[in-house]
Amino acid sequence: MKYYKHIEIDNYQTIRENSVRFVLDKYLVKTHSSFRQFDWNLYVQYCPEIVPALAKYDLVPYGGFVYTINSQDSSPLHIDYISDVYNKCRINIPIFNCEHSKTFYYKKIDKDVQGTSVIQSDIMFYSKESDTKTISYMKFDPNDPGLEKVDEMIVDRPTVIRVQEPHRVMIDSNHVPRVVLTIHTYKDPVYLLEDEND
Ligand SMILES: [Fe+2]
Repeated sequence: MKYYKHIEIDNYQTIRENSVRFVLDKYLVKTHSSFRQFDWNLYVQYCPEIVPALAKYDLVPYGGFVYTINSQDSSPLHIDYISDVYNKCRINIPIFNCEHSKTFYYKKIDKDVQGTSVIQSDIMFYSKESDTKTISYMKFDPNDPGLEKVDEMIVDRPTVIRVQEPHRVMIDSNHVPRVVLTIHTYKDPVYLLEDEND
């Protein structure tokens, strides 16, 4: 299985500069880890280039989160969401310190591996298909013998990431906060991982 793919997007340098400005202006929480929904329309005012850049991949972006990690214990091994109705992939744009972090992927070698369901009701999940007001995810123990680390990567450029396979961001505590924008799109970007024969 392919777990991620770095992608080229038009006007990336402008998109990155505008995204950094947006996060600095509006959303960065320097001392807390968080997964915060951002105002999509406001973001597009800062960064109109994102829409045509993703249209090239037949993706229509409509919302997203600023994911800030300040401490390793706030980044558990997990699967995002607990429902198949959500996309298998999102698009991540690096903002701060991503080059000092790594994302690890695990697979279940024992299909009976059980995670722990975690509900975060203090943040709103943004989806036009759902009125869900909470984020649910499944947390796993990275030392569980039923799990095996299978891949790793660095979000140092726009990246399609699988979010419904166990994954974890390992940070360098000397370089925090580690921040990405993670973007939801119509048409699941997973198709970009399925084109290749693996
Ligand atoms: Fe995740």
